[in-house]
Amino acid sequence: MNIAVLPGDGIGSEIVAEAVKVLKALDLKLEMEWADVGGVAYAASGHPLPEATLRLAQQADAVLFGAVGDWKYDNLERALRPEQAILGLRRALGLFANLRPAVCYEQLTHASSLRPELVAGLDVLLVRELTGDVYFGQPRGRRSAPDGAFAGAQEGFDTMRYTVPEVERIAHMAFQAARGRKKHLTSVDKANVLETSQLWRDTVTQVHKQYPDVTLEHMYVDNAAMQLVREPKKLDVIVTGNLFGDILSDEAAMLTGSIGMLPSASLNEKKQGLYEPSHGSAPDIAGQGIANPLATILSAAMMLRFSLDKAGAAARIENAVKKVLAQGLRTPDIYSEGTQKVSTSEMGDAVVRALD
Ligand code: IPM
Ligand code: MG
Repeated sequence: MNIAVLPGDGIGSEIVAEAVKVLKALDLKLEMEWADVGGVAYAASGHPLPEATLRLAQQADAVLFGAVGDWKYDNLERALRPEQAILGLRRALGLFANLRPAVCYEQLTHASSLRPELVAGLDVLLVRELTGDVYFGQPRGRRSAPDGAFAGAQEGFDTMRYTVPEVERIAHMAFQAARGRKKHLTSVDKANVLETSQLWRDTVTQVHKQYPDVTLEHMYVDNAAMQLVREPKKLDVIVTGNLFGDILSDEAAMLTGSIGMLPSASLNEKKQGLYEPSHGSAPDIAGQGIANPLATILSAAMMLRFSLDKAGAAARIENAVKKVLAQGLRTPDIYSEGTQKVSTSEMGDAVVRALD
């Protein structure tokens, strides 16, 4: 089993080091190979996703990814910015299905910005389409506005688009996930305004015919944003497009207390996957040993489960994480009075010790 390890920028190298520590402690005979990605790759070789990194990722069974992005690179032309590395990997590997579970651990109900009773026991799975939508739609760019009240002024434009097969495959993924859970799927769109969304809604409704045991509910994205903070426990599996999924997953993350707790899996049709925390590179806290490595450690668990057929090992990691939380260990983002503040690497060590 080959794993490409791509730590990336900011806190990426610190959090990935902890996940690797945990994987090594499991003694699974994993081959790991490291490569640069994002801003550090640009600095070293002039491109955020060097050819060699892409090849390594393509040949691996799974990719363990940290994070990319740094203000230092915000003024580069778009094609050279660190974010292009993750977008390019998603695109090149065909990672169309992004699973972002938002689970509120019992010990962290008080770390949420919502009242504890609203989030206690929360367990929502966001299924985000990851290779289409306005993120990748062409044409896009800048031009002189061709018409309208501001004709002739400089304008920026992007294209939101989805084809039926793209919606079908993510819908199947979401219905199957719903089947293994509470059999309730919420499809989020903006069909009252957008053609793309109307096609999305029609297609999800068609696919639903193959899953009569699952209840399907359609919800506009503005309402979904509201329901997530009003009564999040009424939601179970949410399926949505790339842009809405990006926004709603950050919102869902916050319900759980810290975005530092949320893992993610991005899968293609061959079960090859890229595993990364749902949070970003946080360059403001990089190098201080205060980042929370649990999202990355939990992403490694998802990797074992979804790409490497090691569900038992995945469960060992997940149980170890619950144990360290029960022991009261907290990185600063989830710290509260009466708990014990630990560093990034102390948290990783504690997870290793807590493995059964
Ligand atoms: C995410 C991130 C990325 C996205 C960025 C870094 C391009 O916000 O994974 O949610 O927008 O998809
Ligand atoms: Mg995001």
